Amino acid sequence: MPAHAAAILPAPRAALTVTTVQTPTPAADEVLVRVRAVAINPVDWVIQGTSRVTYRWLNTPAVLGSDVAGEVVAIGSAVTRFRVGQRVFGLATGTDRGRDPLREGAFQEYTTLVERLTAPIPDDLSDEEAAVFPLGISTAACALFQPQLLGLRMPGDPAPAASRSVVVIWGGSTSVGMNAVQLAHAAGYDVVTTASAKNAETLRGLGADAVVDHRSPTAVADLVAAIGGRPVVGAVALGAGSTDACIDVLARTGGERLAMASTPVSLDSLVGRRRLFPAMLPVFTRIGLGTLRSTLRARRRGIRAAFVWGSSLRDDEMGPRLWGEVVPRMLAEGALRPMPAPLVVGDGLAAVQDALDRQRAGVSAQKVVVRL
Ligand SMILES: NC(=O)c1ccc[n+]([C@@H]2O[C@H](COP(=O)([O-])OP(=O)(O)OC[C@H]3O[C@@H](n4cnc5c(N)ncnc54)[C@H](OP(=O)(O)O)[C@@H]3O)[C@@H](O)[C@H]2O)c1
Repeated sequence: MPAHAAAILPAPRAALTVTTVQTPTPAADEVLVRVRAVAINPVDWVIQGTSRVTYRWLNTPAVLGSDVAGEVVAIGSAVTRFRVGQRVFGLATGTDRGRDPLREGAFQEYTTLVERLTAPIPDDLSDEEAAVFPLGISTAACALFQPQLLGLRMPGDPAPAASRSVVVIWGGSTSVGMNAVQLAHAAGYDVVTTASAKNAETLRGLGADAVVDHRSPTAVADLVAAIGGRPVVGAVALGAGSTDACIDVLARTGGERLAMASTPVSLDSLVGRRRLFPAMLPVFTRIGLGTLRSTLRARRRGIRAAFVWGSSLRDDEMGPRLWGEVVPRMLAEGALRPMPAPLVVGDGLAAVQDALDRQRAGVSAQKVVVRL
């Protein structure tokens, strides 16, 4: 049986360890990829630190990670869009409920990707640049386009000739936010967003027509002023405090839909704790009460608020449209840039644990990447 090296989570809350695992054979709808670059998302260190309570279905040993770029080395019998030797990037969904975290996790030399969540890497994009996209753009697309969230038209859908409408993206300088700004702009919406002042120009370059500092006490009023009476089709809430701020903006502008991507209290405070369970109760109580309070606030204002799950596009029609049509077309047209810019922090699987710690320590408009 062929084998390869993987950075595994050997047990809940343990440090990643590099070991050897069996190399899988791709299923009919999968490609087997030699991974060349992976990117880190907050969920990776959240799962590492809290999976006993947050990802209770996840068995260990597990391979974490969602963002993969590499080269196809084998294809399943039903795969039509890829060939062996092709460079691809895609969303690894191994940590989702019902998936196999050893076959389908990103942080290993070889992994499987489903064809429907994979796209070719254009020649002018490096593996490190391609690796920044998968979970960021998938989560952004779920928030903007899934009917139960904002339900907006996708890039390439016909746009009405009438007056333009606005999408609010709180947290535009996050990884999800930078992809959301580009997708919403490409779909023909005006985008108003938030970022710290040093990232404002970058956000304008991605298509935002107004950028407000999320740390400013007048951020909500500034966004409402920037919208200036245009119709608002909805808001995407990213980052601490974003849900209530978005409810305030929507209530003052007549917007009725809210996609919530972040918990009201960061799980960061749980990750480093020596004993998880005593610390867990107050944090989860605050998350539960905060979510209930925000949902009721939204409902009283006529706003439909729902949570985003960034890999849920695996099972709907939007996933294959995003990865099969929209992403390749936007890249070819130069309408989609790999943002946040990759910050390569190391080479090899042994560097992945440090990369998780680096992401957890905080980034500003940067995507932590490891080359394999
Ligand atoms: N539900 C899902 O499926 C899903 C999937 C992916 C991510 N998420 C969540 O979405 C959020 C963003 O994740 P990410 O990976 O995109 O983040 P990230 O790239 O790690 O975000 C870093 C950025 O956050 C910005 N930021 C810090 N505090 C903020 C605040 N209070 N409001 C708005 N922005 C703030 C900073 O912007 P400045 O430097 O400009 O200040 C920084 O550039 C996280 O809460 C993450 O857990 C959810």
